[in-house]
Amino acid sequence: MSKQINLTLKVWRQSKGEAGRFETYEAKNIDTDASFLEMLDVVNDELTVKGIEPIAFEHDCREGICGCCGALVNGKTHGSHDRTTLCQLHMRHFEDGQELVIEPFRADAFPVLKDLIVDRSGLDEIITEGGYVAVKTGNAPEASTTPIKKELAEAAMDAAECIGCGACVASCPNGSAMLFTSAKVSQYALLPQGHPERAKRVKAMVSKMDELGFGNCSNEYECAVACPKGIDVKNIARLNREFIKHGFKS
Ligand code: SF4
Ligand code: FES
Repeated sequence: MSKQINLTLKVWRQSKGEAGRFETYEAKNIDTDASFLEMLDVVNDELTVKGIEPIAFEHDCREGICGCCGALVNGKTHGSHDRTTLCQLHMRHFEDGQELVIEPFRADAFPVLKDLIVDRSGLDEIITEGGYVAVKTGNAPEASTTPIKKELAEAAMDAAECIGCGACVASCPNGSAMLFTSAKVSQYALLPQGHPERAKRVKAMVSKMDELGFGNCSNEYECAVACPKGIDVKNIARLNREFIKHGFKS
C-alpha cells in the first residue's frame, strides 16, 4: 500500500560554463508509488510557484528504454537499484525523512549542460563512427538461409539491450566507455550480417572513444554493477579480441 514521505534534496544546480553549487529543497508528501522523476516533477511544480527555476533533468520514455534519464543519487548512478533506470526507480525504496544528494553524471567526457543534464553526445559519435551494415537490396531473404547459433543470437540480443544511458562511464573511475562500446561492437560482431565491416567498425569506434577523452578500462567492473540493462563485461573481452584480431587490418 502506498504512503506519503517527506525528503530533503540537495540538488546540483549549474548552468553551462558556470560553477555549480548544491541547493537544498524539501520534497513534501511524495507518494511512494511515484517514480523518482515524478518526485522531481512535484518539486519542480513547487519551485515554479515560488518563482524559482525548475531543476533541469533529461527524460523521454520514462519506461527504461530510451536511455535519456540519469543522475547520481547519493553517489550511485540511477540510484543503484538493481537493473533500474532513474525513471523506473520508485520512491518506495526511500525512507521518510531521508536526505538525497542528487548530482549529474560525473565524467570528463560528459560536461554539464544544465543542472542534472550532461552532454552525452560522445556516445552517439562512437555509434556513428561504427558506420552501417552493408546488406543486399531486394526482397528480404529467407531467414533460414542465414543460420545463426541460438547462443550467438541471444548474446547479440543481450548486447543490443544497451540504451546508451552512460551510467557505465559515470561509474567508472577512469570514465571509460568500454562497456558501452563493447556492447555496440558485439551486437554486430556476433552475427554474420556484421562481419563484412567488423575490422573497420572496431577500429573506428575505439579510435573515436579515445579521441573523445573517454578513459581506459582497468577491470574495475563498476560499469557492470551500474548498468541498468545488465550488459556483461564479457563484451569488453570480446571488444579487445575484435580489436586485436581485426582492428589492425584496416
Ligand atoms: S552499457 Fe549499460 S550503463 Fe552503459 S550505456 Fe549501455 S545501458 Fe547504459
Ligand atoms: S526516460 Fe527513457 S530510460 Fe529513463
